[in-house]
Amino acid sequence: MTTVTWAIEELPARGPLFDGAIRVYADAFAQPPYSDPDRGREVRSRLRSVHRSRPNFRGFIAKTPGGEVAGMCYGYHGEHGQWWHDMVRNALTAEQARDWLSDSYELVELAVSPAYQGRGIGRALIERLLEDCDEATCVLSTRTDSQAHELYRRMGFEVITIMAFAPQGAPFYVMGKVLR
Ligand SMILES: CC(C)(COP(=O)(O)OP(=O)(O)OC[C@H]1O[C@@H](n2cnc3c(N)ncnc32)[C@H](O)[C@@H]1OP(=O)(O)O)[C@@H](O)C(=O)NCCC(=O)NCCS
Repeated sequence: MTTVTWAIEELPARGPLFDGAIRVYADAFAQPPYSDPDRGREVRSRLRSVHRSRPNFRGFIAKTPGGEVAGMCYGYHGEHGQWWHDMVRNALTAEQARDWLSDSYELVELAVSPAYQGRGIGRALIERLLEDCDEATCVLSTRTDSQAHELYRRMGFEVITIMAFAPQGAPFYVMGKVLR
């Protein structure tokens, strides 16, 4: 693994670094297994219209020494009434829901530019995101046919359940890490 110091900074609400983060996200999710050319547009709109105002929202970008955005991530406090939180809660037993969702931080999005993957940026972004968490757990979902679960597993996340978010939709691992 190349040793480079990535500058981790807050994800701004607008401007060239925000646009760079969306570009990274779009490029990462245009690759298999997602192969989704619209994800960038969708996340730009969701971030601005809804996600940024959720409790404990925090977002970060990783910049190369040349100032290029190479990765991005964000998350917020999970609670009733949020689509993902409610979908996952319904798929868990009451005991799992109590253990994992009663005081949880949701890692919502993480993407590293295909040109910079495998150099520790994903790990650095997650570590930064979790640094300020007061929540008891961090939870997320990731497609079972993507390799991202390997990164999460190495960082101490465990599989809570496997579920789909749409009828006939792709299966996702729901994963969680105990923070305290
Ligand atoms: C998943 C993703 C964010 C990982 O970012 P990254 O910068 O390449 O990951 P890192 O280099 O920080 O890897 C961290 C660890 O995970 C492991 N890892 C990362 N990608 C892996 C892969 N494809 N296969 C196996 N292990 C992998 C690394 O070996 C590393 O372990 P180590 O630190 O113990 O050596 C990136 O591949 C990506 O953007 N993928 C497309 C979008 C996506 O799947 N996002 C997550 C959706 S939930």
